[in-house]
Amino acid sequence: MRDVAIIGSAQTKFGKLGKSNTELFCDASLAAMEDANVSQKDIEALFVGNVLGGFEEGQINIGGHLVGALHLGNIPATRFEGACCSGTVAFRDAFMWVASGFYDIVLVGGMERAMIMGTPFSTRTFAMANDCKYEGTTGITFPGVFAMVARRYSKIYDIPLDKLREKMAHVSMKNHKHGALNPHAQFYQKMGNLKVEDVLNSTVVCDPLTLMDCCPFSDGGAAVVLASADIARRYTDEPIYVLGVGQGSLGHMGAQADITKPASRVFSARSAFKQAGLGPKDVDVVEIHDCFTSAEIVASEAMGFFDWGKGADAVESGQTDIGGRPVINSSGGLMGKGHPIGATGVAQVHAIVEQLKGKAPNGNQVNPVPEIGMTDTLGGGFNTIAHTILGRSRR
Ligand SMILES: CC(C)(COP(=O)(O)OP(=O)(O)OC[C@H]1O[C@@H](n2cnc3c(N)ncnc32)[C@H](O)[C@@H]1OP(=O)(O)O)[C@@H](O)C(=O)NCCC(=O)NCCS
Repeated sequence: MRDVAIIGSAQTKFGKLGKSNTELFCDASLAAMEDANVSQKDIEALFVGNVLGGFEEGQINIGGHLVGALHLGNIPATRFEGACCSGTVAFRDAFMWVASGFYDIVLVGGMERAMIMGTPFSTRTFAMANDCKYEGTTGITFPGVFAMVARRYSKIYDIPLDKLREKMAHVSMKNHKHGALNPHAQFYQKMGNLKVEDVLNSTVVCDPLTLMDCCPFSDGGAAVVLASADIARRYTDEPIYVLGVGQGSLGHMGAQADITKPASRVFSARSAFKQAGLGPKDVDVVEIHDCFTSAEIVASEAMGFFDWGKGADAVESGQTDIGGRPVINSSGGLMGKGHPIGATGVAQVHAIVEQLKGKAPNGNQVNPVPEIGMTDTLGGGFNTIAHTILGRSRR
């Protein structure tokens, strides 16, 4: 297998954008191709993560339309769907095609325009990622899943729910602080100075989660250009290497021993670490799937950064903020930056690339410039989870 490098990356602003999925993908892709110093003729295949285009704008079979809109000739294009993990699933596949030697340069991205659907329809369609027989029939939605995660965490670690809510509030405060500094974030220059009480006292969404415990619905796109590491320096002086990738699957939540310790995440993160020849202690910066405050905490434990039951203390003590290690969600994460589900995984990769190049937004850059970064993306109720590990040096 060959080494693979990211030679260019970009994202659109996230938020309510009023652009079509094709426009969002093209905006991000053209910026990533410019960053990579490649032109249309260099791209050999296109990989795209998109979840709900059929519901959002009546558009499926979108891969070929993206090739047409980007004037990429007649190259193959494939859409990947793994709920909120779609972008990382597409990235992992694109990586494997280049690593195998089949292609030298490919484009991978993702996009979503959830805001056109409004909250009720978005909530309904997002919930289709749950098992339709065992979970859909109960009416459960994603705020419901992560409210249950918070309650179970409180019970098994004997942390009173009020105390846990205060610890969870620090996830929101940290990620909104970073998002407020990120010009591409949905909540740029907003909510950058939240207090614990602001999170606790905002509108209840699904007890014990309030509005400030939740990520928003978002529109947005993100893209990266991958190349064989052997040719990467023809295009850029700053290739970022893909050191490891992982992906795990689960099934419905009822089949899971403990939803605070999803086996799919443990499996996926360990696969990525094994491929990279690294462990949690080697990672400087992480973009974690913080769709809800409780989600970031349990993810940081399942990836091996903290012992079971200790992730909530770590965020409360500031260990995962800039200045601590590993720094989690320096881009603002899903909560501050936004969560256009098909784009999210690729935008996480872009955020790590920016960190490893020393080009993260002012105030969010970790210093000294980090060597190793990681992404964690979750699709559905732990049903599809994927990871990437990126580095400034080759394996
Ligand atoms: C939290 C949630 C219920 C809020 O929906 P809503 O009450 O309909 O909110 P609206 O879209 O009407 O927005 C109302 C205001 O709250 C703000 N807002 C919306 N979601 C927000 C969030 N998550 N955090 C902070 N502010 C938010 C909006 O910007 C808007 O502010 P404005 O009045 O200043 O313009 C909804 O965003 C949600 O369900 N999020 C979770 C999405 C999800 O499950 N994703 C998949 C995870 S795996």
